[in-house]
Order: sequence, then structure tokens, then C-alpha cells
Amino acid sequence: QLVEKGNHRHFMQKEIYEQPVVVAQTLRSYLRRLENKVALPDMDFDLAGVKRVTIVACGTSFYAGMVAKYWFEQFARVPVDLDVASEFRYRQPVLEPGGLALFVSQSGETADTLAALRHARAEGQTIAVVVNVPTSSMAREADLLLPTHAGPEIGVASTKAFTCQLAVLAAFAANLARAKGRMDADEEKEIVAQLAEAPAAMNAALARDEAIEAIAPLIAPARDVLYLGRGPDYPMALEGALKLKEISYIHAEGYAAGEMKHGPIALIDDAVPVIVIAPSGPLFDKTVSNMQEVQARGGKVVLISDAEGIAAAGDKCLATIEMPCVHPLIAPLAYAVPVQLLAYHVAVAKGTDVDQPRNLAKSVTVE
Ligand code: G6P
Repeated sequence: QLVEKGNHRHFMQKEIYEQPVVVAQTLRSYLRRLENKVALPDMDFDLAGVKRVTIVACGTSFYAGMVAKYWFEQFARVPVDLDVASEFRYRQPVLEPGGLALFVSQSGETADTLAALRHARAEGQTIAVVVNVPTSSMAREADLLLPTHAGPEIGVASTKAFTCQLAVLAAFAANLARAKGRMDADEEKEIVAQLAEAPAAMNAALARDEAIEAIAPLIAPARDVLYLGRGPDYPMALEGALKLKEISYIHAEGYAAGEMKHGPIALIDDAVPVIVIAPSGPLFDKTVSNMQEVQARGGKVVLISDAEGIAAAGDKCLATIEMPCVHPLIAPLAYAVPVQLLAYHVAVAKGTDVDQPRNLAKSVTVE
């Protein structure tokens, strides 16, 4: 299948811009808007009987799984184990009957994830996969196939596959919550309405592209960059750091905002930009106090938040990126956009090969 860049300079840019459309496309198969219900494909096991979920993946797909852990535990109150596939395979995980093992993969071919799937199957787990390539090995070996409809992703650094994975995982969390009796019809209606808003929120985030491009020259000279977030924004901080290092070759680390004082704060000076991902909400004040610890040590902060958050805490920042005000459930989907665009524009400013970064492969089919 021939995929063209169209008007875009890079596939990655095109794929970032496709997100509202492909996320909407993906959500269409998991939401019944008229009935205000979430829906999964047919399955021959009982979701209500799932006692524990084990989520396994690599790279960006792992961070989608990490966001899902917050959702599954918060909404469905089901305990979740989470592991990168290369660790899971060899750590002799305890997998009890009644467990669901959930694998997340764009390609469906990543060697470690596929081997982890086979290990979980041999240990008697029910196998669910969130995968973008419906003909892939993982898709064929699943008991429950949860496709993402991102279309072919060409840029090595994953963008649209990631947000489509988040959309499927959010819908899955809601299904699990309903099956477990943790969500009534009104709550389900609210979740369906919020998820349906995600593409519009992503469009509003894309409208910040020029402002983000203007920030890129402030980040491009840095040798190290830190990303901070709390709750589901913690995996977004990890994903932001991964995107930046993948395509711009700047060393970047994501940290749980509250953990910063246990190490990375020693790195803070005016040469280490700190990207703070903090939508307003219950965790906002906590993250802002960590941000102020950075500022008190001369650290330069780029705050990604909504108008309310920026009004409350943006004045001493090097720069701010104003996001639409979104429900906490869809914040990771919306906040993925500025994080991707920032990495993209920094890489373009540095002149690296955005779509084919050195040493990286789109699909890692060897161990
Ligand atoms: C490679 C790619 C990443 C991707 C990871 C997992 O490292 O460069 O973008 O996130 O593999 O791939 P998967 O196809 O399993 O999602």
C-alpha cells in the first residue's frame, strides 16, 4: 500500500495531524453513541470474571498500557500488573487463573511482546490484544482482538497509533467497569460523551502548532530535558521524553512529578528545560508545587495546561502551551498532541531525520 505525505513535510507530521480523524474512526467501533454505551467486539469469556489484568508491551505502546493501568484501576477497580515485554518474559510472573493478559502493539509483530503473549497463553491467561495491524501475528493469536484504526503508520516514532490505543483502552476500561458493576448508566453516558469529545480536543491542541513551533528553538540547544507529570500524566511525561530522544537525540527523562525531589532535582539549572504536563484538576496543585521547586532552583519551565492552569501558575514560566479544558479521562489523548509536536519541531530545528531516526526500527522483530 502506497502512503503519501501529501502537504506535509514528514510522515510524522502527517500522522500527528491525522489523529482527530483516526481516533474518531477508532472510537466509532467502540462507542454506541445513540444508546450512550461503550461496546466491545464479541468475546467468548466473561469480562465480569476477570480478576486481574496484566498489561504487557514495548516502547510507546507500553506507555499507552501505563495510562490504561490508571483507568482500569480507577474505573473498574480491577488490579493491574504492568510490564515491558522483555522483562515480563523472564521474570517468572505469577499468573493466576481468571487473569486477562492484555498486549498492546502497533505492529502486532514485536518479538518480545509476541513471546510474552505466548508465555501468558501457556500459563492459562485469556489473551486480549490492542493492535493496529489486523493481519499480524498477535491479532491471529488473540482471544479478544481490539483493533485500532490508525491506518498505516510510517514514521518510526509512533504517534497516531498511540492515541488510537488510548481510545481503545479507555473504552475497554469502561466496559470492564460496567461488567464489574462499577459504572451505572449515567456514568457510562458521561464517559461516552467525553470520549466522543476527544477528536475535537485534539483538533484544538493542533491549533497550537505555531505556538509550539516557536518554543522549539528554546529547547533545541539543550543537552538534557526533563518531563514531569502526575497520575495518567506521568506516563505522558515518559512518552514525551521518549519522543524527544527518539527523533531529536536530546537526552530526555520523564519523571513522576513528586519523585523529582528524590534525584533529578539535582540536575536542575537554567540549561535543563523542564516540560510540565499539568491539566487543571485534582492533581494540579501538587504538580505545580513540584514545578515551583524547579523554578526556585533556576529551572526553566514549559507548562502545558489549560487556561485556568496557566492563569494560576504560568507567570514565571519560560513558555506555556495552552490546551483546551478537557475531562481527565481524555486528557492523555489531547495532551499527546503538544508533546508530539514539541518533539517534532525540536527535531526539525536540529535537522535530524524525523521519519527514520538513527538506530531505530519501526518494528523490532528480533529479541
Ligand atoms: C519500536 C518503535 C516504537 C514502538 C515500539 C513498539 O521501538 O520504534 O515506535 O513503540 O517498537 O512497537 P509495537 O509495534 O509493538 O507497538
